[in-house]
Amino acid sequence: MVKLGINIDHVATVRQARGGREPDPVTAAAICELAGADGITVHLREDRRHIQDRDVELLRKTVKTKLNLEMAAADEIIKIAVRLKPDDVCLVPEKRRELTTEGGLDVHGRKAQLAKVVATLKKAGICVSLFIDPVAGQVRAAAEINADCVELHTGAYAHEFDRRMRRPVKSGFIELERIRESAAMALDLGLTVNAGHGLDYSNVYPVAAIGGMNELNIGFSIIARAMFTGLEEAVREMKVLLPPHPTLSP
Ligand code: PXP
Repeated sequence: MVKLGINIDHVATVRQARGGREPDPVTAAAICELAGADGITVHLREDRRHIQDRDVELLRKTVKTKLNLEMAAADEIIKIAVRLKPDDVCLVPEKRRELTTEGGLDVHGRKAQLAKVVATLKKAGICVSLFIDPVAGQVRAAAEINADCVELHTGAYAHEFDRRMRRPVKSGFIELERIRESAAMALDLGLTVNAGHGLDYSNVYPVAAIGGMNELNIGFSIIARAMFTGLEEAVREMKVLLPPHPTLSP
């Protein structure tokens, strides 16, 4: 069965909006696991805009399935990963001004630097994945620098799916085909194949059905959906706390 890793960064984004303690991503992780998640993913960004060091420290102790740390290949974050030893690390490119991770990692162009980072993380007993665009040169480079796994970027596919839902055309799904071909090539090269970014309730199935797919990492659509599946109950709980009739003035 294809595994589901849940990215809980968006819970931390809501917490950071008020700078308080709620909602706590550590609690969110436990709820995801109770619901059947196969793993928990967090992205410790260099600017700490959502997930904080404290979250990763606590999640390392509390996650019972598998903790996947998404991170840039930056010295400060590498040190944290080596110290905390998440089960998996997924190396991603990171830009300060982006809303979310925009493209895949240029493994082909940064082979020497990334090879060292992969070796350091593997030496610490961490399984290393590289978040790449579904392009043959990047898949090959990932195998050449000894990564354990690739996570294929599904963002372009998600946009393609969206466009085609609005304006159906007869030609095939070019982006989906790219993911299929890259997945087959990665498997041939002995890499584990994951995928993620922009996957939601309508577009997930064709990617999940790709032969040999190990795990999908999904964040935004699940957290966004949770607001609507949970909103009614949250309002009811608040109503119960209010007195049924107007109280006397103080
Ligand atoms: N995989 C990677 C490497 C990501 O950077 C992200 C976004 O943080 C995801 C998966 C999840 O993407 P989404 O939130 O769009 O489901």
